[in-house]
Amino acid sequence: MQPDYAAILQTIFAEVQPLLSQGKVASYIPELSKVSTQHFGMAVYCLDGSTYSIGDSQQKFSLQSVTKLFALALAFSREGDAIWERVGREPSGNPFNSLVQLEYERGKPRNPFINAGALVIADILSARFVQSDIAVQQFARTISGEPTIDFDMAVAQSERQTAHRNYAIAHLMKDFGNLHNPVKTVIDSYCRQCSLTMTCAELAKAGGFLANHGSVPWSGQRILDASSSKRLNALMLTCGTYDAAGDFAYRVGLPAKSGVGGGILALVPGELAVAVWSPGLDATGNSLAGTYALERFTTLTARSIF
Ligand code: DON
Repeated sequence: MQPDYAAILQTIFAEVQPLLSQGKVASYIPELSKVSTQHFGMAVYCLDGSTYSIGDSQQKFSLQSVTKLFALALAFSREGDAIWERVGREPSGNPFNSLVQLEYERGKPRNPFINAGALVIADILSARFVQSDIAVQQFARTISGEPTIDFDMAVAQSERQTAHRNYAIAHLMKDFGNLHNPVKTVIDSYCRQCSLTMTCAELAKAGGFLANHGSVPWSGQRILDASSSKRLNALMLTCGTYDAAGDFAYRVGLPAKSGVGGGILALVPGELAVAVWSPGLDATGNSLAGTYALERFTTLTARSIF
């Protein structure tokens, strides 16, 4: 029997209120620090087409690293296993913007969800598309069915102006021969990609294809074969929330991808996608109230992959 999602979202909404002020907005991208920590939105997209939402679920927010999932799905669908020659599939155990492993491991990022890995994916996409960020935007429109999905140019510019670490990462990889396009081209595309905005309702719908074994539930369009979809789910579980991936799996028990805008997309394979947004982050860069909300969601619905 399907849980009472509407009632469960209401319970979660009430429970997270005291947590909203405990997280800190990302300030290393100045434009993101302007967002209030008091926002909370959550949306569930069930594969039978039913939807449930609460709070600021219709408000656009900056997807940031959640877009790494879209970029990876697009690159994997086009290039297949060839991408693994340039990026690994192991959790990093380090912060998402860390440089240390990259030097030891000769410019091959641990996985596609840390910044280094996402820069390599943007570089791979640049070989196939005129602009990788536009390709990711089009992909986001296709999987969400929302033709208006767009960049926030103020956020993109704000990130570009402060992207010193990402420049350092990109230059290091360029030196190791793992970046084929000019560093500036890749960083510019990556910053625009990260600035894409969506609402929780749109994001949950966009995640549907990964909960639906690779095909878009409402259009039937196949994006990935079932095996590839399984593999992306596995990467989300092991690497999607960075150096908190172990703790996230322990607490939530779902494949998920987070972003420093405060969004998290999580999947119950075969059943639903759930998106949550709350801009206050914990020390690892994951939404503090968002993680708690998902922990309660899997507890109250008795839905998890375990
Ligand atoms: O490159 C960055 O630092 C940001 N554009 C994205 C980082 C991010 O979202 C990490 N997520 N928790």
